[in-house]
Amino acid sequence: MPADLIDGVSIAREIRREVAEEAARLIERGTRPGLAVVLVGEDPASAVYVRSKGKACEEAGMHSVTIKLPAATSQAELLLYVERLNSDPLIHGILVQMPLPAPLEADSVIRAIDPRKDVDGFHPINVGKLLVGERDGFVPCTPAGIQQLLVRSGVEIAGAECVIVGRSNIVGKPMAALLIQDAVGANGTVTVCHRHTRDLGLHTRRADILIVAAGRAGLVTAEMIRPGAAVIDVGMNRIDDPTSPRGYRLVGDVDFETVQQVASKITPVPGGVGPMTIAMLMSNTVRAAAAFARAAE
Ligand code: GUN
Repeated sequence: MPADLIDGVSIAREIRREVAEEAARLIERGTRPGLAVVLVGEDPASAVYVRSKGKACEEAGMHSVTIKLPAATSQAELLLYVERLNSDPLIHGILVQMPLPAPLEADSVIRAIDPRKDVDGFHPINVGKLLVGERDGFVPCTPAGIQQLLVRSGVEIAGAECVIVGRSNIVGKPMAALLIQDAVGANGTVTVCHRHTRDLGLHTRRADILIVAAGRAGLVTAEMIRPGAAVIDVGMNRIDDPTSPRGYRLVGDVDFETVQQVASKITPVPGGVGPMTIAMLMSNTVRAAAAFARAAE
């Protein structure tokens, strides 16, 4: 029997509804949650993400600002924009879209964001809070969304063998930190694989929960899956497709058709992890706004 689909569109919609309710409560008490998204350069995929983030915020009644800067923006100018947003009382969350065009350098930009407004959860303060299990920081949106996909589709994480393919700061590392926590929706046994892993299949075949965020189309095939595993595909790869009107189509890192025959649950691409990232960004922004409102009481 083919795997059940984990429907990111409907789970994200559910979370966005909860977030909109929370935003409405805050607005009633005088705080409209505000998110600023900074986009540097013209990368078309980033522009699409940024537009959908703004639209989702507005739908939830939140304040949304998009700052579009030319690719030639200097590091100092970018830092100045971040400083302004740090001191803007209408903004509770700041996201600088990655990757930045060369030669801009991400680390100092991430460190310049006020950790209380770092709704991406990339600032070392928030990374540290996640690792030590302090709950008042921000968890990066993609791993937070994956945890919600698992929990809300009834996948037991406690005691499960969780194998993550990819060790980026955006997905793999925070995903590992989240799943090993001593907390509800966690307590997994976690393995992180990467480019230097000697025998990838040896690890993936042990996984009850397999999370793939490697950025390589078709990396994971059916013989690498333990029968009955839950498979989360974070990949978002454009491959040429002359039959598509755009000339390309989006595929994940997992060979969906064959893996679907072995797994018990699987996320589609698109429509799996992608919509969750935006939902969690909104959730983090509302939490940030609530924390600012509490601090002002
Ligand atoms: N680029 C891809 N994913 C993300 C994300 O979650 N946050 C930011 N800022 N940039 C990204």
